[in-house]
Amino acid sequence: MIIKQLDLSNFRNYERETFSFDGETNVLFGDNAQGKTNVLESIFFTATTKSHRGSSDKEMIRMGEDESHIRMITEKKGITNKIDVHIKRNHSKGIAVNGGSIKKSNELIGICNIIFFSPEDLSMIKNGPSERRRFINMELCQINKIYLFNLTKYNKILQQRNHLLKQISFNAELKDTIEVWNQQLIEFGGQIIEERRKYIDGLNPVISRIHKELSGGKEDIRMIYEPNVTEDLFEEKLLISKEKDYLMKTTHIGPHRDDIAFIINNKDLRKFGSQGQQRTAALSLKLAEIELVKSTIKENPVLLLDDVLSELDRKRQKHLLKSIKGIQTIITCTGLEEFIQKELYIGRTFEIENGGVKSCKTK
Ligand SMILES: Nc1ncnc2c1ncn2[C@@H]1O[C@H](COP(=O)(O)OP(=O)(O)O)[C@@H](O)[C@H]1O
Ligand SMILES: [Mg+2]
Repeated sequence: MIIKQLDLSNFRNYERETFSFDGETNVLFGDNAQGKTNVLESIFFTATTKSHRGSSDKEMIRMGEDESHIRMITEKKGITNKIDVHIKRNHSKGIAVNGGSIKKSNELIGICNIIFFSPEDLSMIKNGPSERRRFINMELCQINKIYLFNLTKYNKILQQRNHLLKQISFNAELKDTIEVWNQQLIEFGGQIIEERRKYIDGLNPVISRIHKELSGGKEDIRMIYEPNVTEDLFEEKLLISKEKDYLMKTTHIGPHRDDIAFIINNKDLRKFGSQGQQRTAALSLKLAEIELVKSTIKENPVLLLDDVLSELDRKRQKHLLKSIKGIQTIITCTGLEEFIQKELYIGRTFEIENGGVKSCKTK
């Protein structure tokens, strides 16, 4: 698929702007804090209804305004789709596909497939488990409607259970009601664990091949899913953890505490990897993800690269750019020098200044 056009109105620092994208490589360049990442955020938001930065809807409305609009025109297998998002300060957002409004964000799945690669992704292996969970959720939600449904349910139930645990500290009689939440936690949590395991199993052969190539044949990488609890022991472990949950007023057991290990030549990269190794593994993971999405949806996703090229050395940059041939890519960076020096192909450039396109050139 490709994104043909993006119209922003009162989104972040954009008052009104239109972007017509090249089908291959697009580069947004300009100084810091001019609005480059905001463009990528608007695309990701339109495709997933979530900000990649975790911002709330309201934060994305241009300061001093009450509403914001994004319109994105995409093309997939020769079919054009128009997605309209309307963010309102005092109401929930409205989304329409080809003029028909949709109620649930999971109806958007399959219309747009976006892969976002940011500098934070490069430190995913070094950082805490919540980043790795965020990664797996983001990927699975985009390709799997049922996963998104289960995750949304699970998070709601978890929130309610934690709320109840707080109430129990004042009113012990409420202890009887916890069982209702336990059953639902097990039901939806169990499906999340199963899907995550399948996803990591599918990623492993792909990441292993890519990483071997990136490391010049030296490194064998393996991902190991580390569920906090397995489906068969969920009920038992929840029971064992009951008193601790009451005491700490929070739920200790469940997939919200999962992690993923990255093992290279039998060493845990999270603890023993050098920074370079951790970054290379993160890049391998992203490339594996692109391949997996391509083979799952039988279509190319759109790749958003936010300031990552400058974070990679020459060899890895080349590898990344070689791997994404034929995929529409929108890249942000501060200057174009790097592209020119390395004779990298660019389809269209957008110079971004103060929430607007200062100049746009097509090669
Ligand atoms: N809701 C908003 N309304 C107006 N301006 C905003 C809003 N949110 C962020 N900004 C502005 O957007 C700019 C940051 O944009 P960003 O895309 O992150 O920059 P960069 O070009 O460095 O990627 C800052 O100048 C910030 O003040
Ligand atoms: Mg930025």
